[in-house]
Amino acid sequence: MTHQGTHQVTDRLAALEDLDLESLHHQSFIETRDASPAQLAALTGLAEMFEALDATGRVPHLLEGQLAYALFFDMSTRTRSAWAGAAARLGMAPVIVDGGSTQVEHGETAEETGAMLGMNAHALGVRHDKFLGEGNPFIRSIHKGITDYLAATNDTRAVPVVNLQCDVDHPTQALADLLWLRERFGELRGKRVTVSWAYSPSYAKPLSVPQGLITLLPRFGVDVTLAHPPGYELMPETLAHAQEGATSGGGSFTLSDDMTAAFANADAVYPKSWGPMALMQERVVARQAGDQAGLRDIEQRALAQNAQHRDWICNAERMAKTRNGEALYMHCLPADLGDEVEREVYDRYRTEVARQANKKVYAIMALLAGAKVNGLSERLLDGART
Ligand code: CP
Repeated sequence: MTHQGTHQVTDRLAALEDLDLESLHHQSFIETRDASPAQLAALTGLAEMFEALDATGRVPHLLEGQLAYALFFDMSTRTRSAWAGAAARLGMAPVIVDGGSTQVEHGETAEETGAMLGMNAHALGVRHDKFLGEGNPFIRSIHKGITDYLAATNDTRAVPVVNLQCDVDHPTQALADLLWLRERFGELRGKRVTVSWAYSPSYAKPLSVPQGLITLLPRFGVDVTLAHPPGYELMPETLAHAQEGATSGGGSFTLSDDMTAAFANADAVYPKSWGPMALMQERVVARQAGDQAGLRDIEQRALAQNAQHRDWICNAERMAKTRNGEALYMHCLPADLGDEVEREVYDRYRTEVARQANKKVYAIMALLAGAKVNGLSERLLDGART
């Protein structure tokens, strides 16, 4: 271990003493708004400690021999590998399954699926993000299925359910983004972060990334501006949560319909696409009716609506208006190059967005270890001494 690495680990371990790690025990993570300020502080501190420890190659196998099972009902590159990477670093065996290959496709309920998976697995991640009003209740029902099964069988194991993106929130992404902002800026109070819609021709993307950001960041004192063209509103309850977070956390939350104005003096910008609200709601009806042709037609209309706003792009002119022309460009990835963001802008930040993405593995490690390991501080301190 390098001298600097030893210092980092020692500092991060010492910082854990001020955190309420016990508050994470047996906790699932479905939306960040379910977590108290103490729990969020514990999670961020733990994640930062795991990152420092990982840099030294000495993460203890705190969960040796346990199964980290994940179900994905949508595509993923980063979150899938972050789940696997987090589990492996903790000594767990990761197994990742395409949700479409399970009996859910044949009508098995989410609660029963939760019970079946909970009896075998030691942690469960789920991505279910395609349809408004579907993914979040599905994940909450999975959680209920596991919880009821464990209670009914007097099984005291912690089997946390981790939301790996639903229709409402993408909490491991929001937590990763928070960790990246903390690394880049330190104190976040008073920092200006602009979350902006940007044009995409690829597909009507979920709303959960911007919703996750506006819900979480104001709780840390961040001044968040959400910019989008008319018709790209987010779910009303998430706007209300953003305002509540601003009030409780000392940040602010502002809406704008002008991408250029929203970039002015921003410390960080997060331009990305999401689907138009009215068509996202229409999709729900078509989905419930099993109308495949209708779903394809809605997708084409969503892309046509997007195309009316091709000028919503993160370009050099807009970046020049940010704080000293040097705002941090952020994206959850993948970014649509040449559409959401100019290639030249993206190329300047290519390594930065990769480092942003890398935070997710530590966020998930914190969630799994915090939920499952008894006496976590002592175990980590003992591990550091050996
Ligand atoms: N940002 C993110 O969630 O990426 P994936 O869809 O590749 O997991």
